[in-house]
Amino acid sequence: MEVKTNTPFATQKIAQDLAKNLKGGEVIALFGDLGAGKTVFVQGLARGLGIKRRIISPSFVFMRTYPIILSHQTLTFYHLDLYKGESMADLASLGLDEIFSPESVVVLEWADRIKKELPKKRINVFFETIDEKTRRISIKRS
Ligand SMILES: Nc1ncnc2c1ncn2[C@@H]1O[C@H](COP(=O)(O)OP(=O)(O)OP(=O)(O)O)[C@@H](O)[C@H]1O
Ligand SMILES: [Mg+2]
Repeated sequence: MEVKTNTPFATQKIAQDLAKNLKGGEVIALFGDLGAGKTVFVQGLARGLGIKRRIISPSFVFMRTYPIILSHQTLTFYHLDLYKGESMADLASLGLDEIFSPESVVVLEWADRIKKELPKKRINVFFETIDEKTRRISIKRS
């Protein structure tokens, strides 16, 4: 599906709607340039998953985790930001296998940085900046 949004709030609404359909075990890969709206989207996802804490970009650490409840189970929401292109050694030390599990929902900003390591079955979200206020958002499952 493809939509255009004209406000950050509208982008968050798209994410919140997606969050409502998550069951656990999903990997959501975000692609798009600086300022395209990836973190704004993650904020909407988090809200849709019932996370009350404010989502900030993981800048000093490139991963943050939040407990979520989905289908009456406590799972973990992982927010990764790979902008700085962490080395595979860093990522390996995180244990990507552990992160990509049925007990988690994972969202990755700059997912192209580890495209080869991503599970094939995932939700891809592409962001394009049209102008200052307008973003094109395409969601494609693979
Ligand atoms: N329609 C829109 N949807 C989302 N953000 C918008 C929209 N219009 C304007 N913005 C603005 O664009 C910026 C998006 O910033 P955001 O941090 O989400 O980008 P990002 O893709 O995470 O960038 P980075 O790669 O630096 O992490 C915000 O300042 C937001 O207010
Ligand atoms: Mg960001």
